[in-house]
Amino acid sequence: MPTTADPSVPVLTLDGPSGSGKGTVSRLVAARLGWHYLDSGALYRAVGIAAGWSAVDLSDASALVRCAFDTHVEFREDGAREPRVIVNGADATDELRTEAAGAAASAIAAIPEVRAALKERQRAFRRPPGLVADGRDMGTVIFPDAPFKVFLTASAEERAQRRYKQLKDKGVSVTLDGLLREILARDARDASRAVAPLRPADDAVRIDTTGLPIADVVDRVLAVVTAGAPG
Ligand code: DC
Repeated sequence: MPTTADPSVPVLTLDGPSGSGKGTVSRLVAARLGWHYLDSGALYRAVGIAAGWSAVDLSDASALVRCAFDTHVEFREDGAREPRVIVNGADATDELRTEAAGAAASAIAAIPEVRAALKERQRAFRRPPGLVADGRDMGTVIFPDAPFKVFLTASAEERAQRRYKQLKDKGVSVTLDGLLREILARDARDASRAVAPLRPADDAVRIDTTGLPIADVVDRVLAVVTAGAPG
């Protein structure tokens, strides 16, 4: 992978809170366009779990910054819907999706130096023929010059419902109320942090996915690219 990103390569940024449908929509849109896909949340989660593996305290900012630089993350396609995520040589795909990994990611994502440490790594995903970048600050900080920007939202209740269904399908026992509380707390933390708070880029197209089937959201996002594409 090149270390410097090519600014002529088109980027579609998809930002929004967790449960807005970003992950699923981004993957489907990337597949339809034949573009690369950056799951930036997975990078934060990977650093969070690698810190946990080395018993680094989540309040030890300088050790976390070292983790952000040193953690090796590889996305390995194996034909499944989602790639395997290999962290420091170990398959961390399942651990990455746990609530604990999400909470650790959210905590370390509030540290400016951790965000800075992951910046170039994210930009290096910008390779021909194009990139779909999924996260919180893709359109505002990482790829401010992206020609296509979308901000996805959904009501907190609907996001909690979606997460509840996902976890139940996996056999994880949770309560809807508990999930709603966690989602609201995480939203507040992600939106109020000093660095790269969750907010739409001024030039992002906003799509509220509440009540919309995934296929419709995908079509709306693809329309943003088609409408903005030259020719
Ligand atoms: O999208 P996700 O749930 O995998 O993200 C996990 C956490 O990482 C989330 O609480 C916010 C943080 N994050 C971030 O701050 N910036 C990003 N570009 C992606 C994720």
